[in-house]
This record gives sequence, structure tokens and C-alpha cells, in this order.
Amino acid sequence: MTDDVPWDHDELTVGELAARSGVRVSALHFYEKQGLISSRRTSGNQRRYQRETLRRVAFIRVSQRVGIPLADIGAALATLPGDRTPTAKDWRRISKAWHADLDARIEQLQRLRDHLTDCIGCGCLSLRKCRLTNPFDELGTAGPGPRTLLVEDLDPA
Ligand code: FES
Repeated sequence: MTDDVPWDHDELTVGELAARSGVRVSALHFYEKQGLISSRRTSGNQRRYQRETLRRVAFIRVSQRVGIPLADIGAALATLPGDRTPTAKDWRRISKAWHADLDARIEQLQRLRDHLTDCIGCGCLSLRKCRLTNPFDELGTAGPGPRTLLVEDLDPA
């Protein structure tokens, strides 16, 4: 438990949400402005967030880390119910919808990790291996970019 975020509070202040999620208050305000999270206002006009907002913020943060555009994250969060705490079933729907995209991202990361010392078919012809893998840059006839490294299923960044 983060010292200043009691586990038994159903509602959190923006400071508590920031402390437990590890996301700055300014970023939380930005997420709210984008409609990714929501809060209610107290009579003193202070924000109060449902505790389940921590899961949404975690989802946003990790998804951004692996390069998923905020628009796609927003579209996924918009499928969650707004009038009740989402269940595992609700999150499973997102997981299923993202499965193929996440697989492609994993494949892209693995290729980057495992093949950076090989010829990546980018047209540079700068490695000795290029002569074997990409003589006369013949891979360039298949299209632009690093032909042996790119995962086709991923949206071009
Ligand atoms: S690494 Fe660029 S063409 Fe081989």
C-alpha cells in the first residue's frame, strides 16, 4: 500500500490517484479532458475518483508504453460501462479485441531484439550480410522500409 493512499477508500482525491498510479496530476487532468477517466465534484469543487479509476489509469499508462495510440486506448475504454465498476468480463472484451494487435507488437519487439545485427532489408547495403540477404537491394522492390524487420499487421507509425 502506498503510505498516503488508504486501501479502504472507495473514492480518491486526484493526489491519491496520482500517488498510487504513479501518474502526474497534470497527466490525470489531461486524461480526464480527453474523456479517458471521469470524476465527480465535491461541494468544494474538488475532484473525487472512483477507486476503479486506478485500473483505467494503469491500462492507459501501460498501453502507451507499448506504443498504442491514445485514440485506440480511448476507443477501448469507451466500451467499458460508465454506470458501474467494470468486471473481468468487460476487460476480457478489450483483451480479445486487442489480441491480434498485441501479438503483432510482440512480434515486432522480438524481431527488433533478435535481428538488429542481421540485414534488415532497409536498402542501406552497409553490412556484409546485406550482400547475401539483399543483393542489389532487391528487397526494395517489395516496398519501402526494413523489409525483413517490419511486421506487416501493425499500423504504420
Ligand atoms: S541492413 Fe540495410 S540493406 Fe541490409
